[in-house]
Amino acid sequence: MKKILICGIGGQLGLSLKNIFSKDNKYQIHGIDLNPDGSSNMHSCDIANKKDLSNIFKKISPDIVINAAALVNAEICEEKKDLTYSINYLGNKNILELSKKYSSDFVFISSYYVFDGTKKEYYETSTPTPINYYGIMKLLAEQDSLSYEKTLVIRPGKIFSLGYDLRNFIARTQQSLARNEKIKAINDQFNNPIHADFLSDSIKQLIEKGEKGIYNVAGKDYVSNFEFAKLFAKHFNFNESLIDSIKTDETNQIAQRPKNVELKLDKLEKAGIKAHSLEKMFEHMESIFSKNQLFKV
Ligand SMILES: NC(=O)c1ccc[n+]([C@@H]2O[C@H](COP(=O)([O-])OP(=O)(O)OC[C@H]3O[C@@H](n4cnc5c(N)ncnc54)[C@H](OP(=O)(O)O)[C@@H]3O)[C@@H](O)[C@H]2O)c1
Repeated sequence: MKKILICGIGGQLGLSLKNIFSKDNKYQIHGIDLNPDGSSNMHSCDIANKKDLSNIFKKISPDIVINAAALVNAEICEEKKDLTYSINYLGNKNILELSKKYSSDFVFISSYYVFDGTKKEYYETSTPTPINYYGIMKLLAEQDSLSYEKTLVIRPGKIFSLGYDLRNFIARTQQSLARNEKIKAINDQFNNPIHADFLSDSIKQLIEKGEKGIYNVAGKDYVSNFEFAKLFAKHFNFNESLIDSIKTDETNQIAQRPKNVELKLDKLEKAGIKAHSLEKMFEHMESIFSKNQLFKV
């Protein structure tokens, strides 16, 4: 049995990884988060605290480590640079150094925000030029992580889901639509979003294939947030007219956003891993949540 340590296990991706890996009895799951649930093998730990982290590694001696812990809100990262540096950069460095010490396979979860979004199509080999502090920290953490030969860096598109957290774009959209509230969605930031479970499944496959280096992992459909919200509403029969569009310039976002980032998935597909359409990912959500559940808040 392989011991896998998931950092950030209480977040959207962490919970999904826990869900996907726990279906396979080859794995024994351990988790770290600031406030994890009380279940067994869950550890309360700030990844910025190397001493606490070190004690956990000593206890577990993990075969595989995934770092999905981060400050994820680009606005907060822009406003709280010291805190972001200590978690998104130094926290990752702590996990990386301990992974090296225990010779664990290491997976760093990066982001499409390492790109500036001026070129539209981005491959793993494209030059990263981040335009906000969150993206800069992701790039620095990627560079550190790649100094270790057992590292896999995942660059996901926008991650969405229902049932794991209330912060992701689709969870917030569902909450508003279920309450019959109007929402404004940005119509000039484009990306190819991926459901957390499809991302986790791809990460699991990449690990099992022994892949190392950088992989883009995203969905097949390239949409703006506005189109994304509309497609979601249409699929689940919500009132689409509640969704209005807004331009980035009309918002009060402080952090600059990459406008056009289509993550190209040729390398992923060459590794034998399929990318999926939004429709397919919505069908997966439908298999978990009934329409009644979705219309409730
Ligand atoms: N969401 C997206 O669209 C997206 C897109 C591309 C890449 N990513 C990356 O994917 C990863 C997972 O994102 P997500 O959507 O799952 O975010 P999330 O839901 O915010 O999960 C992150 C988890 O990390 C925890 N955490 C934060 N600071 C920590 C610390 N100092 N020590 C230990 N745990 C800490 C958070 O706890 P609290 O909730 O208590 O803060 C949360 O449970 C992140 O690396 C993110 O940068 C996200």
